Amino acid sequence: MKILIIGAGGREHAIAWKLAQSNRPVDIFLAPGNAGTASDYTNVPIDVMDFDRLLDFALTEAIELVIVGPEDPLCAGIVDLFQEAGIAVFGPDKISAQLEASKDLTKQFLNKYQIPTANSFTTADYAQAKAYINQADLPIVIKADGLCKGKGVVICHSLEAAETTLKDMLLDQSFGDSASQVVIEDYLDGYEQSLLCFVSNNQLVPMETAQDYKKAFDGDLGPNTGGVGVYSLPRTPETTDPALEAQIKAILGQIERGLIAEKFSFYGILFIGFMIQDGQAKVLEFNVRFGDPETEVLLPRLESDLLTVFEKTLAGTLKPTDLTWSKQAAVGVVLYSKGYPGAYDNHVAIESLPEGALIFHNGTTTDEAGQLITNGGRVLTPVALADDIQSARQAAYKLVDQIHGASLTYRTDIAKL
Ligand code: AMP
Ligand code: GLY
Repeated sequence: MKILIIGAGGREHAIAWKLAQSNRPVDIFLAPGNAGTASDYTNVPIDVMDFDRLLDFALTEAIELVIVGPEDPLCAGIVDLFQEAGIAVFGPDKISAQLEASKDLTKQFLNKYQIPTANSFTTADYAQAKAYINQADLPIVIKADGLCKGKGVVICHSLEAAETTLKDMLLDQSFGDSASQVVIEDYLDGYEQSLLCFVSNNQLVPMETAQDYKKAFDGDLGPNTGGVGVYSLPRTPETTDPALEAQIKAILGQIERGLIAEKFSFYGILFIGFMIQDGQAKVLEFNVRFGDPETEVLLPRLESDLLTVFEKTLAGTLKPTDLTWSKQAAVGVVLYSKGYPGAYDNHVAIESLPEGALIFHNGTTTDEAGQLITNGGRVLTPVALADDIQSARQAAYKLVDQIHGASLTYRTDIAKL
């Protein structure tokens, strides 16, 4: 089967790697892909937002299945385009993708279907926003309504910081159209958990959980990033809390009811970001796609044939029993460019990578001489699996130690539980 994966990151590399293990023969193309995907699959140099050329390529190559990785093309309606052309495509249509495209829309959905979430206030008006923060407790969370590559959320610990953020977003338009309105939200304390669900005609089939590390530096310090480390644990009596699981199951039921009542026609992935406080889950955010780097540890733990899972999802027939998971733990450490998520040096050489290891490429390319170089903020995610999390962590850092590049850095405390 000819498959086109749209995207260039570690998530897309992991999807390609897992699809390549299908029982059926597959021919995998990535647009645009990266240096890691180039070695095992076929990269096609088309940007993820160049819809005309992507469709043209799919029709010319007789692509039978398209998988869309990132949120930008999803929110801009790429799925609708392939559907109209009669090509099977994995991902939500433009209407369903609004659950990620607008944080205000997500809040309206959560509140309407009584799904636990932080109290919030949405406005496009600076004076109203300022009046709201003046009477709110600190810290307070200010979010740009639209897509910001994980950088549109600011946790403000002082009134001054909150005012500066509001000014940046609403008056100075430092975030462009993404912050034409802001969602101001109560700060939630606790720990985060990502739950990715396959959505098969509005029915949620959850994967096992993954824990993402969003902050740039050890000890959860520094600015928010797209995610610089991750682990996934098998479900065992030690790793599960029955009361919390029951609550999350109820939340999934409420989300399904909402999707159906709002007449969504959702096929793809719903990624639910939870904050767990005192054993209670609240929804922080929705994404309508696989997480990055969550995918890099979840797919290596998935034992089922991913191609079949995609097909069943699109047929509306996926069941929880279609997903089987390895009993091993997986840890991924993201090597990222020094300075990320701020400004960083790009196109810096990476020395040769260890052979035979599971290393997903997030942002790499090759120069004219064929030298592997960095190409983005997040660069490489070595992943290791083992029977327990400590061994997986040690093995992942052993891989990190074998990767050398002048511009690369990483957190040293991923999966240090
Ligand atoms: P979001 O894109 O909405 O998930 O926000 C990105 C990150 O900001 C989350 O993963 C959290 O780490 C943090 N965050 C968002 N909303 C809140 C909140 N209400 N309370 C505390 N932290 C939050
Ligand atoms: N790792 C978080 C995300 O993919 O949005």
